[in-house]
Amino acid sequence: MKAGFNPDQILFTGTGKTQSELKLAAEVGVHAIVVEDLRELQVLAGLPWRTAVALRVNLGLETKTHPYLTTSAVGTKFGLDLDGVTAALEQVRRAPRLSLIGLHTHLGSQLSQPTAYLSAVENLAKLAGELATLGFPLRFLDVGGGFALGFPFARLAEGLRGKVPVGLEIYVEPGRYVVAEAGCLITRVLSVKEVHGQRFAIVDAGMNDFLRPALYGAHHPLLAFPCREGEAMECTVASPVCESSDVFGTYLLPPPEAGDILVFMNTGAYGFSMASTYNSRPRPAEVLVWHDRPFLMRERETLEDLVRGEVVPDCLN
Ligand SMILES: Cc1ncc(COP(=O)(O)O)c(C=O)c1O
Repeated sequence: MKAGFNPDQILFTGTGKTQSELKLAAEVGVHAIVVEDLRELQVLAGLPWRTAVALRVNLGLETKTHPYLTTSAVGTKFGLDLDGVTAALEQVRRAPRLSLIGLHTHLGSQLSQPTAYLSAVENLAKLAGELATLGFPLRFLDVGGGFALGFPFARLAEGLRGKVPVGLEIYVEPGRYVVAEAGCLITRVLSVKEVHGQRFAIVDAGMNDFLRPALYGAHHPLLAFPCREGEAMECTVASPVCESSDVFGTYLLPPPEAGDILVFMNTGAYGFSMASTYNSRPRPAEVLVWHDRPFLMRERETLEDLVRGEVVPDCLN
């Protein structure tokens, strides 16, 4: 809403919503609250507003991505399975102010092929048909986000032709696809060394600045400055943080030298927003490049910022 969207343009989705979040979403009248468990329905049923809800369905579908990035598969915490959907329908039926208008699923992240989306639509459409016969006519099916950069949307649209029941809209929720290319992470090489025959470039950025590589092995294109002459060799780019998982990946590079600049591309999503001050490392500055000119957008944090807000309780004084 702060970014200028009307409540009726907003779907409120998330695994584990607090009572006050649910109340706010119902009060402002979002387009739909995407319910993930029966407690959320119970809370909403007790509120004084008419509220449109959708059910997030865990389809038990495997997707071709990192296990940490799959979100509609058996073993994942998201949404309701079919028994959960049946129980949710009973609750909606008993709640006069709730109307069920959609089904939702979010398959995962970094999906590069339409296959899983087509299976999801097929599954959700079948379920929507069953719900209609039970007296719950729906308005939309939402297949979530997760589209990798370069995703073939035209092939997805082609695959969907004829598969979407009349009267149902298809929603998508692209996240990373929209903003990833808007950002990059600039870091400096502190030192280059070999350990047991493996070449490492230690840089001044770490998992606290950019978590994706350490968290789920994300591999981002890398540019090196200056462009050095010489044969490209494997070099593992690693951070100063004391975690063995904190490496940015192994790249083929002409051997870098201390002082060189490395640029990780496509960090505009899950980049700064996942940054932390772990290891007592202040978060970096953010700079907008506008028509080749740099503008500071967020100041670099200082050590002073790390302790701002800390309180020493009286009992320790
Ligand atoms: C429900 C839901 N929809 C969409 C997205 C966006 O995913 P992505 O950025 O991979 O497109 C997320 C990401 O967590 C999500 O949880």
